Amino acid sequence: MTATSKPVALVTGGNRGIGFAIAQGLLAKDYQVMITARSLTSAEQAAAKLSGNVVPVALDISQDDSIEQAVATIRQHSDRLDVVINNAGVYPDEGVNILTIRRELLAATLNTNTLGAIRLTQACLPLLKAAAAARVINTSSGYGEINGLSAAVPSYCLSKLALNGATIMLAQALQPHGITVNAIDPGWVKTDMGGDAAPRSPEQGADTAIWLATAALRETGKLWRDRQVIAF
Ligand SMILES: NC(=O)c1ccc[n+]([C@@H]2O[C@H](COP(=O)([O-])OP(=O)(O)OC[C@H]3O[C@@H](n4cnc5c(N)ncnc54)[C@H](OP(=O)(O)O)[C@@H]3O)[C@@H](O)[C@H]2O)c1
Repeated sequence: MTATSKPVALVTGGNRGIGFAIAQGLLAKDYQVMITARSLTSAEQAAAKLSGNVVPVALDISQDDSIEQAVATIRQHSDRLDVVINNAGVYPDEGVNILTIRRELLAATLNTNTLGAIRLTQACLPLLKAAAAARVINTSSGYGEINGLSAAVPSYCLSKLALNGATIMLAQALQPHGITVNAIDPGWVKTDMGGDAAPRSPEQGADTAIWLATAALRETGKLWRDRQVIAF
C-alpha cells in the first residue's frame, strides 16, 4: 500500500457524468480520488482524462463479490477513506409505469440504486472509521422526494425514495462513529442519464457533493440541493 497524506475519496460511477465532475472537483482540491466504473478499462480511460492523484477501480455495486474485490483494491492504495460518494445509478423506466412495471425491474433498480449504496457503505466502514471525520454522500434525485414521486418513473423513484431513507438510517447508525451521511439532489443534469435537454452542466450537478465532501460542516442525515437543506 502507498498511503497518502491527502484526504482520500471514493466516487462510484466516477467514469462519466456527475461522478466524473465530482472526481474532477475533488482532485482540484488536492484529494486522492478513486473512481469506479463497471469495467476497469472504462475507469482507466476516465482516469487518463483527469489530472492529479486518481486511482481507477472496477466496481459493480449490484454484486457483493464485486464490492469486496473493489474494497480489496482500494486497500492496496489507502488505509482509510475520508469520503465515500455513492453516485452510481441507473434510470431504466422507459416505457413502464407503476401499473405495468415487472417485479424484476423494480428489484434490479433497487438493487443498484439503493442496496448498492448500503452494501458499499457497509463494506467501506473499516476504512471510513480509520479516517478522522469521514463523510458519506449519496446522490439521490428530485424523483426520490415525496413531492417528486412520479407514477411514470416507478422503479427509479422508489429506489431514490429508499436511498433517502437509507441516508437517514445510516446517519443514525454512524453518528456514534463521527461519520456523517447526507444525500444530494443534483437537479436535472446533462449526462448520458439526464440527456441533452437538461439545463444543468455536470459541474453544476456535482457542486453540492463536492461542497459537502470538503466544507467544514458536520450536519448529518439531511438532503441537500444547491448547498441548502431541502425537505425529503
Ligand atoms: N442526470 C440527472 O439529471 C440526474 C438527476 C438526479 C439524480 N441523478 C443521479 O446522479 C447519479 C449519476 O448520474 P449521471 O447523470 O451522471 O448518470 P450517467 O452519466 O448515466 O452515469 C451513471 C454512472 O453510474 C454507473 N453505474 C451504473 N450502474 C452501475 C452498477 N451496477 N455498478 C456500478 N456503477 C454503475 C455508471 O457506470 P458504467 O459506466 O460502468 O455504466 C456511470 O458511471 C445517479 O445516481 C443518478 O440517479 C442524475
